[in-house]
Amino acid sequence: MAEFKTSPGMRDILDPESGRWRRFVARFEQVVESAGYRQVIPPLLEDIGVFQRVGEATDVVTKEMYDFVDKGERHVALRPEQTASVCRAFVQHRPTVPWKAWYAGPNFRYEKPQRGRFRQFDQVGIEVLGATDPFLDVEVIALGWSFLESLGLREVSLQLNSLGEPADRERFVAALAEYFERHSSSLTSESRATLAKNPLRVLDSKRPEDAAIIADAPRIASFHSVEAAAHFSTVRDGLERLGIPFAVNDRLVRGLDYYRHTTFEYVGGTLDSAQNALGGGGRYDGLVADLGGPATAGVGFAIGLDRTLLACDDEAVFAPVAASVQVFVIDTTGGAEALALTHEIRRAGYSADRAFEARSMKSQMKAADRSGAEIALIVGPDELGSGTVVVRPMRGGDQVTVPRSDILPTLQKVLS
Ligand code: HAM
Repeated sequence: MAEFKTSPGMRDILDPESGRWRRFVARFEQVVESAGYRQVIPPLLEDIGVFQRVGEATDVVTKEMYDFVDKGERHVALRPEQTASVCRAFVQHRPTVPWKAWYAGPNFRYEKPQRGRFRQFDQVGIEVLGATDPFLDVEVIALGWSFLESLGLREVSLQLNSLGEPADRERFVAALAEYFERHSSSLTSESRATLAKNPLRVLDSKRPEDAAIIADAPRIASFHSVEAAAHFSTVRDGLERLGIPFAVNDRLVRGLDYYRHTTFEYVGGTLDSAQNALGGGGRYDGLVADLGGPATAGVGFAIGLDRTLLACDDEAVFAPVAASVQVFVIDTTGGAEALALTHEIRRAGYSADRAFEARSMKSQMKAADRSGAEIALIVGPDELGSGTVVVRPMRGGDQVTVPRSDILPTLQKVLS
């Protein structure tokens, strides 16, 4: 018989890690709901055209998409990210602006799997559509920062850049192309290939042979229009006012093409540099229009769950918590009494578990220990005969025998 395992870059998340994932999303929900963001749940699969708008010159779109033609001859793709889906949803439903949305869920990219890089990975994120105010950029950045702080992470730094208006960016890209062409003989062959497709991406090269040429390349700040420079300056002032430390990194271009003005990344201090962005985002004021909607500003971020939890492991924070039940029912009379008692207790709102397969008292006690229960309820032949139950505290204290009919009031008394 064939033995199946998960595909490369895909993982099963088991308890207690699965509980940690739920707590991560619940914590995120708490942070963003209390700031007025409301959840949107886009589908996992969309017309491929939705994602092509994310950037025809990016690996995410050209190489990494899980796409196929469905049984209705539609060319669809599993979402590689959710910003494009949220913008598509905005165009389709036209909610009132500013629309403040949050989301959580898996995305798919056919990447080379390694630590912190998977083919199915989860993100939590927010998007705001319909406001150009630079203070909104600050709110968005601050919420991601507060969330990461609330996990207990201390070794995260914030990198900030502005790509300016589309025209600024175009002039910058033209200048970069001209500069890199002039020095192409000193670039690695990989960077020369990148240059032919997208000069901006050459700045991403981490190859040491490219470092000197990249260091002297033109800088985006010299191409900022007056408006773009003012927007960026207000964002920086806002962050300073909130006491959020940041470093301007004018080489931060990000892996998706839709950004304008502000871009940022939360960088984890404990991870390898190729996978050290815990999250990132920025403004994408042209994306809604690219998807057929009215000209609408947009700003947001996504934080990778898989990678951020690795950073939590490294910093020994936000640890998995072993789940437990309040009550464990032990029945050595065949199991029917445990069936009824457990059902009754659960219906009264207590968490309760039991053993199956009519195991010995000893093995049921072990199972009770493992369950983390505060109280064991024990029914043996004597108790069954006299219509009673033994109530035994699992962490010290005297056990008592109570009438079966008094079990709920007794639990109410003994459980904290
Ligand atoms: P992104 O930078 O492509 O941006 O992804 C955001 C985060 O998702 C990354 O920092 C990382 O933690 C996680 N991530 C991405 N790819 C992988 C992978 N293969 N394995 C594990 N984790 C991964 C976006 O997705 C944009 N939609 C962010 C955004 C929202 N911009 C504006 N609004």
